[in-house]
Amino acid sequence: MENLATVILAAGKGTRMKQELPKVLSKTSEKTLIEHVLDQAKSVNAKKNIVIAGYQAKKVIEKSLSYSKEIGLNTDTCIQENQLGTGDAVKSALPKLEGFSGNILILYGDVPLIKTETLKNLLSIHEEEKATVSILSLKGHYNNSYGRIIRDTNKEVIAIREYKDLKNAERLGDETNSGILVVDSAFLKPAIDGLEPKNTQNEYYLTDIVEKAQSEGQRVVAYPTFDATEIQGVNTLFDLANINKCLQGERINEFIQNGVIFDCVNSVTVDPSVKIEVGARIGRNVYLLGNTTIGKDTHIEMSSMIINSTIGENNLVKIGSRIEDSTIKDNCFLGPFFNIRPGSNLGSNVKIGNFVETKKAIIGEDSKVNHLSYVGDAEVGNNVNIGAGTITCNYDGKEKHLTKINDNVFVGSNSTLVAPLTIEKDAYVGAGTLVNKKTVPSNSLAVSRAEYKTIDNWANKKK
Ligand code: UD1
Ligand code: CA
Repeated sequence: MENLATVILAAGKGTRMKQELPKVLSKTSEKTLIEHVLDQAKSVNAKKNIVIAGYQAKKVIEKSLSYSKEIGLNTDTCIQENQLGTGDAVKSALPKLEGFSGNILILYGDVPLIKTETLKNLLSIHEEEKATVSILSLKGHYNNSYGRIIRDTNKEVIAIREYKDLKNAERLGDETNSGILVVDSAFLKPAIDGLEPKNTQNEYYLTDIVEKAQSEGQRVVAYPTFDATEIQGVNTLFDLANINKCLQGERINEFIQNGVIFDCVNSVTVDPSVKIEVGARIGRNVYLLGNTTIGKDTHIEMSSMIINSTIGENNLVKIGSRIEDSTIKDNCFLGPFFNIRPGSNLGSNVKIGNFVETKKAIIGEDSKVNHLSYVGDAEVGNNVNIGAGTITCNYDGKEKHLTKINDNVFVGSNSTLVAPLTIEKDAYVGAGTLVNKKTVPSNSLAVSRAEYKTIDNWANKKK
């Protein structure tokens, strides 16, 4: 649409949020509400964009301008001194619209999920219908406290009434106001000047311009969407939680469309920066957080948490496991119930079993740490077997030390490896050995054992 300006209402405190922060600076899982709405403005390519700030205006303006710069949006700001209602807010933007002639799209700083396609449809209908005011409405019966669109017997829109100003029966109307509207600039100024705060909230309602247009014989249309998700506003923290649920639902839906399998969509948490490749399967109650990537055909079983980690292809992460700030290559068999702590780096075909903890550990291809071990500050080569219950003693009470275990080493169960230590390639460590030398040479056997004895009939003598 040529000659289009957007006006974004963002001056309110958001009292119902019960926060100090201005409502439009509240953050969804992706960005602040004002950033979502600036994205909407960007999507319609308007000549001019005006953000109306008021409560903590400096902060709102700062964020609006910095984000506009980031997305390449031409944004101006104005101040509404006192928050006397949405109509009064638009009044404070009028000086910035001096000399502008065309259509004005009013966006609400607390309505973040409106889709580009919907805005474009609203603008086209406004043009096609040669309307003075076009409202985006929601069709259907909803238990919400939004304004209600009032139509006459010919189905023409005659007014918008605020929920608070309606009596019970009137609230049952089946068309609600999203807040978003397009209005002809020539009509807007006099209409705004004529507003009066005659309602239960003593506010200047922007929505009252509808009745004014209708009474002047101007064309008013309401373009209904059937998608209640899209028009959700944020008035309370509960609304914000719902918005996050929707955003996450959209992300997961996109993954599903691309061939990712989710065992239970509603139980998982997937952050916005997470990437998941085709054929991956995500179990129930899984958390994928931060900059995490899950590779093709990898299966993350239920109740696992993966934070800022890159997991390659065709891995199995069994139930109840945790991986943080680490990298895992391909074809690994991991878990259940392990804890891969930051700085771990697992090669391909690695096996990590139950109750294993790693930290700053490089583990080479085809190596196994199958049960109940701690591998910390360690460099483990390829094809190494670390037996059950093996511990790297990396900490002497003051400093951490490195354990190096080279290729093809076999560490027997219940070994205690005191760092700093290097076990050279092809060496063996006998089960139950305490290794407290600095080096175990290549091809050798390290073993430390009290001599084994059997004392015959000992139990009977003890009695
Ligand atoms: C508004 C609409 C309602 C609609 C609903 C949809 C009016 C009168 N009511 O109600 O019909 O169903 O949105 O979400 O418009 N603001 C200012 N200055 C003010 C007051 C508000 O800039 O003086 C801004 C707020 O920061 C907010 C937006 O306008 O971003 C909406 O204000 P809010 O008080 O939340 O209006 P609702 O009661 O939700
Ligand atoms: Ca609102």
